Amino acid sequence: MTKILSIQSSGRQDGSVTRKLSAAVLEQLGGDVSERDLTTSVPHVDGDWIAANFTPPNERTAQQSATLAYSDALVAEVKDADILVLGVPIYNFGVPAAFKAWFDMVARVGVTFKYTDTGPVGLLSGKRAVVVIASGGTPVGSDIDFATPWIKQALHFIGIDDVTVIAADALGRNAEAKLASAKNDILKLAA
Ligand SMILES: Cc1cc2nc3c(=O)[nH]c(=O)nc-3n(C[C@H](O)[C@H](O)[C@H](O)COP(=O)(O)O)c2cc1C
Repeated sequence: MTKILSIQSSGRQDGSVTRKLSAAVLEQLGGDVSERDLTTSVPHVDGDWIAANFTPPNERTAQQSATLAYSDALVAEVKDADILVLGVPIYNFGVPAAFKAWFDMVARVGVTFKYTDTGPVGLLSGKRAVVVIASGGTPVGSDIDFATPWIKQALHFIGIDDVTVIAADALGRNAEAKLASAKNDILKLAA
């Protein structure tokens, strides 16, 4: 069975458009679903984390391994999934801080990407991502949407290039039509 990891970053549980549409995506795709809710705080990169990350695995102290344990768990669940379903509201023209913090924990040299003579190469190939994006006024794909291009670049960086964006954007203007269009796009997703 296809393994799907749902990663949600809306600060709200009730009334969240990204959570609701992500649930519709999960229903459409079917599969064995795991959930990661980023509203329970994701640690930020700090000095200890950086030092541990850049210490070769076989030279890490027990303390350094413990420092990386949460990041390791986040990476493991991404590695284990065939499809990522990402629920990402636009907050202040970008992704929610929790989502950025998640990616900072997942982008690991030698684990999810590597450096080569011709530049960095993502190591998580063969996966697909469906990104559900909602906004109040920022049109997805516009010059002031820094979320969508950043998400695509971040996923590309770790080797995920098969990315479908479901946009429920600029909901402040015509929510009903935008939601109907997003739901229609979801029904077109192949399992
Ligand atoms: C802290 C915060 C910042 C926001 N910043 C933006 C923004 O920059 N542009 C925009 O179009 N909408 C912005 N919004 C509106 C949300 O993108 C919109 O309400 C969206 O539906 C939220 O996702 P959710 O329904 O899954 O919670 C912001 C909302 C919040 C709570």
